[in-house]
Amino acid sequence: MSLPSDLVAPLGVLAELTHRCPLACPYCSNPLMLDDRGDELDTATWARVFSEAAAMGVLQVHLSGGEPASRRDLAEIVSAANASGLYTNLITSSIGLDRRRLAMLKQCGLDHVQLSLQDVDADSADHIGGYRGGHAHKLEIARLVTELGFALTINAVIHRANISRVAAMVELAASLGAGRVEIAHAQYYGWALRNRQALMPTRAQVDQAMQDAERARSRYHGRLVIDLVVPDYYARRPKACVGGWGRRSLNVTPSGRVLPCHAAETIPGLTFWSVRDHPLAKIWVESPAFRAFRGTDWMEEPCRSCALREVDFGGCRCQALAITGNASAADPSCELSPHHARMLALAEQDAAGSDIDYVYRDRPATVRSAAAALR
Ligand code: SF4
Ligand code: FES
Repeated sequence: MSLPSDLVAPLGVLAELTHRCPLACPYCSNPLMLDDRGDELDTATWARVFSEAAAMGVLQVHLSGGEPASRRDLAEIVSAANASGLYTNLITSSIGLDRRRLAMLKQCGLDHVQLSLQDVDADSADHIGGYRGGHAHKLEIARLVTELGFALTINAVIHRANISRVAAMVELAASLGAGRVEIAHAQYYGWALRNRQALMPTRAQVDQAMQDAERARSRYHGRLVIDLVVPDYYARRPKACVGGWGRRSLNVTPSGRVLPCHAAETIPGLTFWSVRDHPLAKIWVESPAFRAFRGTDWMEEPCRSCALREVDFGGCRCQALAITGNASAADPSCELSPHHARMLALAEQDAAGSDIDYVYRDRPATVRSAAAALR
């Protein structure tokens, strides 16, 4: 199926190979209702999805989860993506990887590894991820990744517990040989929304983190790319979430539903088509969920008449729903939204609260005991 002239192919596909994960981060972007292992797409179906993606003009696939290394067929999946001509990026916690497996992935054509770190302090990192020994393993795998010649990006999600260590995160990423470090504040959907009171920093902490990142940028200019994403709750204008709904990217869930963004299933009334039933290009063009907020026709005021409506596309639909109860409203992180002051007040109220325990993300019973030991 060819794409209509007013619609380009997504740049990348996020392939959520599984929702299984040994870690249980309280800001996990997976939904509150996780897909079961028994419902996961098999290797052959992923191979078909990659070939359909490449045929429609997609350039990159991000192999994600959960923890993609929880799939025994990860090497075959990488081979299939590579055979389709896609640039392959593995987004991993590293748990489940070792030298033998990494070398195999290299042979299968994996191009890039994006490794998540929970903190620079091992005890804190293991507490946040709910997995004892996880941080030490990550450092070992990061070194192997560069030794084997992969490009490495370090991902660090920041929040109240670790936001004061942005400078140290950059130092650590540089010492591990990363070419890029993405320091992104937790995005408050799903598990992070449930844990917002435990995660939200103060505005002063956010301001300090931005200054720390700026200083690090000057120091590492030309050697390390540093991205910093601040929390929307303290912003004045929204980001163009996922590059605009249905414009740049799509997610395929472990069981094959195709979503415009990872939190799209929180929006009631949307119908998500599956790669089990339709080719990817048909889903991209025709599926009701992608058409629901594509372009600008769906917008209400103040977005409808705003000069920036084709710059940020009204911000994030999932955040609009979470705060205002209306997925068609302007993202309340925009100061033109009538809900902006309330969103800021929520952030300040959460940030001023005392520290509370995390609600860890669900995970299979086999690894739950490791987290219990940490609490
Ligand atoms: Fe963006 Fe809407 Fe705010 Fe304009 S009013 S800046 S389009 S969110
Ligand atoms: Fe769904 Fe932003 S996370 S549109």
